[in-house]
Amino acid sequence: MKRIKSKISTKSPAFIENKEHSEKIVKELKERMAEVKKGGPERARKRHLERGKLFVRDRIKGLCDKDTPFLELSTFAGWDMYDGAAPSAGVVTGIGVVKGRECMIVANDATVKGGTYFPMTVKKHVRAQEIALKNHLPCIYLVDSGGIFLPLQKDTFPDKDHFGNIFNNQAILSANNIPQIAVVMGSCTAGGAYVPAMSDETVMVRNQATIFIGGPPLVKAATGADVTAEELGGADVHCKISGVSDHMAQNDAHALQIARNIAENFGNRPKFDIGRIAPEDPYYDPEELYGVMPKNVRTPFDIREIIARFVDGSRFQEFKEYYGTSIITGFANIMGYPVGIIANNGVIFSESSLKAAHFIELCTIRKIPLLFMQNITGFMVGKQYEHGGIARDGAKMVHAVANAEVPKFTLIVGSSNGAGNYAMCGRGYHPNLLMMWPHAKVSVMGGEQAADVLMSVKIQQLERDGRKLTAEEIAAIREPVIKEYESESSPYFSSARIWDDGIIDPLDTRNALALGISMSLNKPIPDQKFGVFRM
Ligand code: COA
Repeated sequence: MKRIKSKISTKSPAFIENKEHSEKIVKELKERMAEVKKGGPERARKRHLERGKLFVRDRIKGLCDKDTPFLELSTFAGWDMYDGAAPSAGVVTGIGVVKGRECMIVANDATVKGGTYFPMTVKKHVRAQEIALKNHLPCIYLVDSGGIFLPLQKDTFPDKDHFGNIFNNQAILSANNIPQIAVVMGSCTAGGAYVPAMSDETVMVRNQATIFIGGPPLVKAATGADVTAEELGGADVHCKISGVSDHMAQNDAHALQIARNIAENFGNRPKFDIGRIAPEDPYYDPEELYGVMPKNVRTPFDIREIIARFVDGSRFQEFKEYYGTSIITGFANIMGYPVGIIANNGVIFSESSLKAAHFIELCTIRKIPLLFMQNITGFMVGKQYEHGGIARDGAKMVHAVANAEVPKFTLIVGSSNGAGNYAMCGRGYHPNLLMMWPHAKVSVMGGEQAADVLMSVKIQQLERDGRKLTAEEIAAIREPVIKEYESESSPYFSSARIWDDGIIDPLDTRNALALGISMSLNKPIPDQKFGVFRM
């Protein structure tokens, strides 16, 4: 395959300015990540250790094979929400390798309000199960949770995607021969008791884990009986009397070892073969990504310069190079895995939509995973383009994206606005994973544009009554809108609400995508069918 020829000068003032900016925001990302990964308040962490328990990320480390990567998801869930009370939304999720098998790990952080479920905790847990189903990943739940965070019960308890959905998902996953393993390492109360009860195999830690539908205070209130937590639902009870649990562990480390032994007997599920070749490092230095990505996401640049810095050998077999040039399509390899790349290089026109739809057909028929690289302000607007049927051509691309049955990955490197977000496999199109760079900005349109739209609506309204806006009134409408859009388009705002699966350092792009493709091949890629494209 042909190598991309970079035209970047690493000595140019623009490159240097971009690099400084990228380094600054990546530093901020790492600092914020380190802060969030501490977990709950100091006193809760101290008590946790005094109880002989391991911290949640140490538990995950003990569970996974030595020297294998763990792809943590949505670390910033709950960021700047709930008065800062729920770092990572109190649950760590991610893909780890256990006895050579990629698994989805869902682990409560008991130092965060007793591991209870805030709305974003539920969403993160459910998203992890959705990824497990889409990629056929066995699930290992490291349970240490007091159930629903009671002050927010209305946002966590009864609705379709709320707490109950977790157990519904477990039943469906299990029925699809996707192993469900619970390792109970602390409290597991009320509805939460169904996590181990619904699992294929369950482990409990002696004198530490408890499972009950109603805890001692509830038993006292309901029946007047005094009972200790251990007598009501400790490991001895559930491993010897009730049969709710299958394995008894002496401590955290022992429980993790038992979980690893369980994983040895998940059965043989060979991965789908897409013809991986020997990996080759990118020819161009990935560190240069920092200087390639513009400081201002609105500054145009050639997206091939980014592709060149994370694909194998910087090689890219471009498809329709001279047609519909505002979308770049082509084949590459990431760590040896073949991938079809669709990347924005300007606003989307009719031709670029058709080119993308054509390319998606190629990849789906050939069973090659797709990578969408978003830096998109939207579809081209104006009379000429509407008359040319841009909506019809855009719909073909949307049809192709929505129905493409190959694994799909979305990476937002810059802007993600309007229908461009949709056509380029935004969250609503269920990519297997959606990652963003810290440079990303996600909103229906830019703040300035939104302010202008709202302004012109107001002006038209007033004109009907024969009035005009004063300069002060204009500023009073525009400024708050611009401010709000600025804050809401931040990648942290998005990640806090789990609109994505995580913010990554651009230097981790290659690893994260390779892990993503690898995990997706646990599920066979089916033959392809499409809906009706309006021609
Ligand atoms: N909802 C809201 N907050 C809860 C909570 C719940 N269900 N369970 C615990 N918390 C809070 C506590 O108020 C405390 O907050 P604070 O640090 O601001 O004071 C924090 O979580 C830690 O709780 P604490 O009891 O001090 O910690 P612990 O490690 O000794 O015990 C539990 C943790 C979860 C075992 C225990 O708090 C408990 O049994 N909670 C009730 C569980 C329950 O009945 N849930 C039913 C929900 S369906």
